[in-house]
Amino acid sequence: MIERLWAKLGKSSLQPGEPIAPHNVPEHVAIIMDGNGRWAKDRGLPRMAGHHSGMKAVKRITIAADRLGVKYLTLYAFSTENWKRPKAEVDFLMKLPQQFLEIELDELIANNVQVRMMGHKEDLPSYTISAVEEAIVKTADNTGLVLNFALNYGSRMEMLEAVKEIATEVKRGQLAIEDIDEKVMADRLLTSGLPDPDLLIRTSGELRLSNFMMWQLAYSELWFTDVYWPEFTEEHFHEAIKEYQRRARRYGGL
Ligand code: IPE
Ligand code: IPE
Ligand code: MG
Repeated sequence: MIERLWAKLGKSSLQPGEPIAPHNVPEHVAIIMDGNGRWAKDRGLPRMAGHHSGMKAVKRITIAADRLGVKYLTLYAFSTENWKRPKAEVDFLMKLPQQFLEIELDELIANNVQVRMMGHKEDLPSYTISAVEEAIVKTADNTGLVLNFALNYGSRMEMLEAVKEIATEVKRGQLAIEDIDEKVMADRLLTSGLPDPDLLIRTSGELRLSNFMMWQLAYSELWFTDVYWPEFTEEHFHEAIKEYQRRARRYGGL
């Protein structure tokens, strides 16, 4: 009874000892890792220090997700809009994948993690792409957690590319207009072959999607926290998962 009251107040996630139900762990968790800059600013540090610290959170949460049995973890690392930032910050962000993988790739391999990337590769510097591609190739046969980096990713661009592909196929007579359905569209998105996220987490108190997975998140559970990404811990992650487990997903039904 008290538990239900707490749940109604939205405070039940604060119950410390509550266990995670192993049969209802989200298969795919997507995270908008936000707040690196503000985390640094609060400490009188340059924004880059926040991004560096955010990299450690990536490792922490990858391990946490793997431990829980999450199958896919998609992390928004750089959006198609982030090019608007000062060049020095963009340059720093572009070097992070290489830095991260130099330190962590061996451990990812040892833990059977499969690295993937979704985003528009064309505009990325060659050192960013080659680091990511090396990780993709070296982990391709791994069967554990799929760690999917959204890098130079934007949902609108992704959907436009898919629409152009579909239009081309129709024009060539390879596809009939009547046959265009959700699967035809989904198969032409960068997430082709991945299930839709069950849970979306956004840190730092912002309540928006910022052009992230707008097709795929149609029926995802959304969870927001004020915590900045560099200070996001396994405990925060568990809080999100527990809240997810209390939700009733109806998909428009009863
Ligand atoms: C998220 O942190 C990382 C990226 C968007 C690359 P921000 O850099 O957006 O940090 P805030 O939102 O300015 O605090
Ligand atoms: C979204 O965060 C992009 C990533 C986390 C990579 P932003 O910080 O870029 O989003 P806005 O600008 O606040 O919407
Ligand atoms: Mg931000």
